[in-house]
Amino acid sequence: MPTSSAERPPQVLEVEQLVAGYGGAPIVHGVDVSVGAGEVATIIGPNGAGKSTLLKAITGRAEVLEGSVRLDGKDVTGRRGDQLARAGLGFVPQVNDVFGTLTVLENLEMGGYLLARKDVAPRVEEVLTAFPALCDMRTRRASKLSGGERKMLAIARVLMLRPNVIIFDEPTSNLAPVVARSVLEDQVRVLANSGSAVVLVEQRASEALTIGDWGYLLVAGRVSVSGPAAELLGRDDIGELFLGRETKPSPALNEISP
Ligand SMILES: Nc1ncnc2c1ncn2[C@@H]1O[C@H](COP(=O)(O)OP(=O)(O)O)[C@@H](O)[C@H]1O
Ligand SMILES: [Mg+2]
Repeated sequence: MPTSSAERPPQVLEVEQLVAGYGGAPIVHGVDVSVGAGEVATIIGPNGAGKSTLLKAITGRAEVLEGSVRLDGKDVTGRRGDQLARAGLGFVPQVNDVFGTLTVLENLEMGGYLLARKDVAPRVEEVLTAFPALCDMRTRRASKLSGGERKMLAIARVLMLRPNVIIFDEPTSNLAPVVARSVLEDQVRVLANSGSAVVLVEQRASEALTIGDWGYLLVAGRVSVSGPAAELLGRDDIGELFLGRETKPSPALNEISP
């Protein structure tokens, strides 16, 4: 795990001074985030901080008003989602991550939409070898999968195009704690260990920082803290606000006591 930015690997995705939002109104106000091959960059922050908007702007789904996004050193600012997918960027959204009415197999085939037709079936088989649990469910509709299986399918679907950067928006939302832990440890972390660059936005802040290398705290559309993930985990102020640790009684409780 890096202890300073100088120890981080060469950065594959570099977001600089990004201003982004909707209908010309900024939600994200000049954000710098980056990730290198083999790293998990964890982004935490309160609801409404602009985490999803940041990810949507990086992946071509929200407006970029200022700043830049570079992928492998190439400027890809404002490119469409399919162009970014071609350039090696994969995105696992928080909702609508699979097509519920389609089968497991059909979802994977859709994930291979940029491949030559003859390459789709062999790639499905390759991807399935990494997800044995999905192998026996090829003909099952995605809507019939458990939450954990569904997230597995969403990840498998994105892997169809062999992305080198994979961006996750709250992959554990609506999952039971034990399943959530498995998604973070056995899937998200493992992708980075196999050489992918991973950006992880999570509400489960302490778990996400634990499997992360570098951490960012986003508050009101700005990065308020960034550093080694272990350092963010160890900070009392962040612990109290975002990691569920209480080191002193909260002011709200004092106020209501007589
Ligand atoms: N499609 C949209 N159009 C306009 N405003 C939006 C849209 N999506 C989100 N917002 C606003 O952007 C702000 C940040 O939201 P979001 O990026 O979803 O935060 P987070 O993911 O950190 O909870 C919120 O105030 C939200 O209302
Ligand atoms: Mg969000």
